[in-house]
Amino acid sequence: MARHLITSALPYINGIKHLGNLVGSQLPADLYARYLRARGHEVMFICATDEHGTPAELAAAKTGEAVADYCARMHGVQTTLADGFGLSFDHYGRSSSDRNRALTQHFAGRLADQGYIREVVEKQVYSHADNRFLPDRYIEGTCPNCGYDKARGDQCENCTKQLDPTDLINPRSAISGSTDLEVRETKHLYLRQSALKGDIAAWIDGKADWPILTTSIARKWLNDGDGLQDRGITRDLDWGVPVKRGDADWPGMEGKVFYVWFDAPIEYIGATAEWADATGADDAAWRRWWRLDQGAEDVTYTQFMGKDNVPFHTLSFPATLIGSGEPWKMVDYIKSFNYLTYQGGQFSTSQGRGVFMDHALEILPADYWRWWLLSHAPESGDSEFTWENFQQSVNKDLADVLGNFVSRITKFCRAKFGEAVPEGPAWAPPNWP
Ligand code: MF3
Ligand code: ZN
Repeated sequence: MARHLITSALPYINGIKHLGNLVGSQLPADLYARYLRARGHEVMFICATDEHGTPAELAAAKTGEAVADYCARMHGVQTTLADGFGLSFDHYGRSSSDRNRALTQHFAGRLADQGYIREVVEKQVYSHADNRFLPDRYIEGTCPNCGYDKARGDQCENCTKQLDPTDLINPRSAISGSTDLEVRETKHLYLRQSALKGDIAAWIDGKADWPILTTSIARKWLNDGDGLQDRGITRDLDWGVPVKRGDADWPGMEGKVFYVWFDAPIEYIGATAEWADATGADDAAWRRWWRLDQGAEDVTYTQFMGKDNVPFHTLSFPATLIGSGEPWKMVDYIKSFNYLTYQGGQFSTSQGRGVFMDHALEILPADYWRWWLLSHAPESGDSEFTWENFQQSVNKDLADVLGNFVSRITKFCRAKFGEAVPEGPAWAPPNWP
């Protein structure tokens, strides 16, 4: 019996997830957790909602709720849907938890102590009408690369180019639409990923068994252009983990929060601590999954995610863990997935395009979806959902082939044994090689 830690990429809190989100992370992670449990192994299967960042604030502004209320409500909705889909998490946490706040501030303090943080004064767009800075998605404008006029401050959805808010042509506030903007100076913390490049490259080189999809994306980011760049890990926002250096205030960083991609992966650890709290266990109970000096040497850790998440899990999060100088458990295997497309186009949360978890469960029981999605998982390339394919597959493979098999077996049993299934020995996990 071995010990397996399994995490699924944390779904954003802003809305109900579609089948494309599900098939790239939570569903295959659930399959793997169930498989290992059936084999008799000890499994800790962790997921959580990813609640910080501009998407949460903007979604809450749309419904008119306070962002904390919005997140609490949507966490409830997502928990119910996860249950509906039979996702067997040992804990479904929240990145806005006290545990994650403390851990995030702890890591930032350790990184600073080890010399991996530098303070940078940079230029950010400030909106007079909104009385605030406009990071990431708070600003919209025309893409300098393709001319699309609804590009966001962090990325152009049309041509996928990564942008800085100051790159946009004709920028406007995504909150008020105001164009009364000014570029102002503000101070931020940068994680010195460049100084950790050698450590991370060596760590990835040791992962010869990883899927090509995972290592090719990691190597591309490590080696392309300027290689692994230092990255801003703080934002001028209200909602998020307040910037602190461990328990201490961080002079000059008052009123700022950590960037969502800094605190989100730390919540894998945070959610395991939340699991301990929820089950009345002590700190040693979660640390034996995460600390090499406290029992985690024999843990095998597997992560599941869509390919867009790979850079954050192969580079940024490892940089946080390695840079802390503490013996944290690092991932052993990263299973990544390509995209599921919808009727020839993309699934899109913002445009409401595709099949969403709530709608799916209204149409058919979860097993139909689980089976179709897992048997069409986009492993070697993108795969496509069409209603026609779903209908034909269900009718042929489930109703005809499986249904026929079950019907023959039950008829056979009835003919040989009568109405009652004979008692057998107690079930035990199969002892496969
Ligand atoms: N919320 C992110 C997404 O949906 C995934 C976060 S995974 C974590 O793309 F590691 F950061 F938690
Ligand atoms: Zn563009």
